Amino acid sequence: MRTQVAIIGGGPSGLLLGQLLHRHGVETVVLERKTKDYVLGRIRAGVLEQGLVRLMEEAGCAERLHAEGFVHDGTHVAFGGEMFRVDFTALTGTPVIVYGQTEVTRDLYAAREEAGLPIVYEVEDVVIEGADTDAPAVTYTVGGERQRLDCDFVAGCDGFHGVSRKTIPADILREHEKIYPFGWLGILSETPPVDQELIYSNSDRGFALCSMRNATLSRYYVQVPLTDSPDNWSDNAFWDELRRRLPPGPAEALVTGPSIEKSIAPLRSFVSEPMRWGRLFLCGDAAHIVPPTGAKGLNTAASDVQYLAHALRDHYVDGDDAGIEGYSAKALARIWKAERFSWWFTSLMHQFPDQTEFDRQLQRAELDFLRTSEAAQKAMAENYVGLPY
Ligand code: APR
Ligand code: PHB
Repeated sequence: MRTQVAIIGGGPSGLLLGQLLHRHGVETVVLERKTKDYVLGRIRAGVLEQGLVRLMEEAGCAERLHAEGFVHDGTHVAFGGEMFRVDFTALTGTPVIVYGQTEVTRDLYAAREEAGLPIVYEVEDVVIEGADTDAPAVTYTVGGERQRLDCDFVAGCDGFHGVSRKTIPADILREHEKIYPFGWLGILSETPPVDQELIYSNSDRGFALCSMRNATLSRYYVQVPLTDSPDNWSDNAFWDELRRRLPPGPAEALVTGPSIEKSIAPLRSFVSEPMRWGRLFLCGDAAHIVPPTGAKGLNTAASDVQYLAHALRDHYVDGDDAGIEGYSAKALARIWKAERFSWWFTSLMHQFPDQTEFDRQLQRAELDFLRTSEAAQKAMAENYVGLPY
């Protein structure tokens, strides 16, 4: 089999890239390790930057997003029993859209299927061959048969645990990582959200976040030790702890109910460089991971996808390789800014096990400065709604 661009990974990065390339007449084949249902069963965050919304529009996949997504003009920040609001739209002219990232993936699958574009599920033993030559290929096993996909380029959209990053020689690849000493215990409940907007709370007991998927589906998180387990938490224990970490108003207003999903996610910052090796390009979680505090995971994958889609379009349509040559540096410039913001917001909002009282006072002072300074709120808002591509 042969195609122009082999896309490894049928998550949001791979599917969005495939749709954008299709719109520009570039052929792709997506190779996905799991089944479609498995991919769509993953619980993901729900905040979209306008840049991602525009890309979904360019991909022709934004109809449901606009119909069902919620425009959020700001968010609440709580500490010391008080709560203040950062008004994104007033400060930057830009809101965010709350729409499950699983729904983004669902919409992209529907578009790929509607266009009749090839996707191979349940592939195993994927190997990228000749990425540093002019004739790369991807070999893989499906249904017990070994297959070969010859291509012009390989897009590694296979996430943190994929094969693409590991294909880049160790003497070329540079990896940077920061592990946070806590995780997020998250639940999904079929209850109305506690507020119209999100609430990020730094309490003396630890971080909490109140989010949502729609008017009858809420998503809540509390910071927990890395040694914790969802089995240690009954629903009632979760609700009681969440209330303790919220100001009186939301704590009182909280509507509780049975959890339909409960899990703990670790937090890490990770960047691998370069994001290109020969004809192999890394996109999204294959190249970088952020702590979820700033909701930057998919939103940073989106800018990778735009840069790569436009670079490959320019190659095929105009014979112009400037985008390909500049891809890694351009993507990493925006990625590192998202890493910085995600680290800043995580450091500001969480309790650290080794934190001294001095550290705690610094957090309180920075939160009070954020509460009272328009300049500080504008800086946060510009990062939260998404820096320019
Ligand atoms: N071969 C084929 N597919 C693979 C392989 C492999 N060797 N390894 C992983 N995959 C698939 C996974 O099954 C997954 O469906 O690649 C896909 C990678 O998807 P994600 O991990 O979701 O990464 P990405 O598409 O970059 O998504 C970026 O989206 O929802 C957000 O927060 C999420 O930060 C994440 C972002
Ligand atoms: C979510 O809705 O899951 C969510 C929202 C905002 C975040 C992280 C997660 O910063």
